[in-house]
Amino acid sequence: MSVNPLVQPFYDPVSSTVSYVVHAGAGSACAVIDPVLDFDPRAGRTSRLQAERILDFIAAHSLVLAWILETHVHADHLTAACVLKSRAGGRVAIGAGVVAVQRVFGELFNVAPGFPSDGSQFDHLFIDDETFAIGDLASRVLATPGHTPDGVTYLVGDAAFVGDTMFMPDGGTARCDFPGGDARLLYRSLRRILDLPTATRLFTAFVALRNERDAALPPPALLLPAVQVNMRAGAVPPPEANGVSYLKIPIDRW
Ligand SMILES: [Fe+2]
Repeated sequence: MSVNPLVQPFYDPVSSTVSYVVHAGAGSACAVIDPVLDFDPRAGRTSRLQAERILDFIAAHSLVLAWILETHVHADHLTAACVLKSRAGGRVAIGAGVVAVQRVFGELFNVAPGFPSDGSQFDHLFIDDETFAIGDLASRVLATPGHTPDGVTYLVGDAAFVGDTMFMPDGGTARCDFPGGDARLLYRSLRRILDLPTATRLFTAFVALRNERDAALPPPALLLPAVQVNMRAGAVPPPEANGVSYLKIPIDRW
């Protein structure tokens, strides 16, 4: 069993997100963490540039995609989970706290009754301390809420994928002012991460979002589109009678 997995980062300069492929070498199983679906909010158009980079890497190393792991429902980019799953297989998973996020944003976007806020859009919901395997890589989930209620850290061997819980040292931590965010919870989550063995390698979702330290925090540019897709595990909202899917923008609610 490999203790130290290989980790390949993929940086998306548009959203400043880092996605990761974690694997045990050519021909092994792999997991993709926080994949990005490119989205142009001016045109309402998605594209697959970032997803194709990851799919090319998976194919080039003959990897078998076992898991597509979300560290939380992101507010700054759309997930490419559906794209990756349809092209390469794998199970889409997130923390069980996603149901709290779905309740809040399901109400904001008025998506009932067609949208169950039970996490069933995902193939698996992880609870705290749950263990799982990526091929031969033993893995574990730490619930690390605070930035969002559904935040989790994925421990794969000596690698910890902390999402937005912790940024690079000059970036600090993620913001806690989204619905369900809680600075006290985030502090406890940070302690859990810092209590991991000192040899642990930490992989953050963002290099640094310095703007988030400003006193007047605007919502992320893709917050409203991103949440509507990400709370559906990467699926766009169901098409209306004319066959077109729409993203909603609530007026004076955010
Ligand atoms: Fe985030």
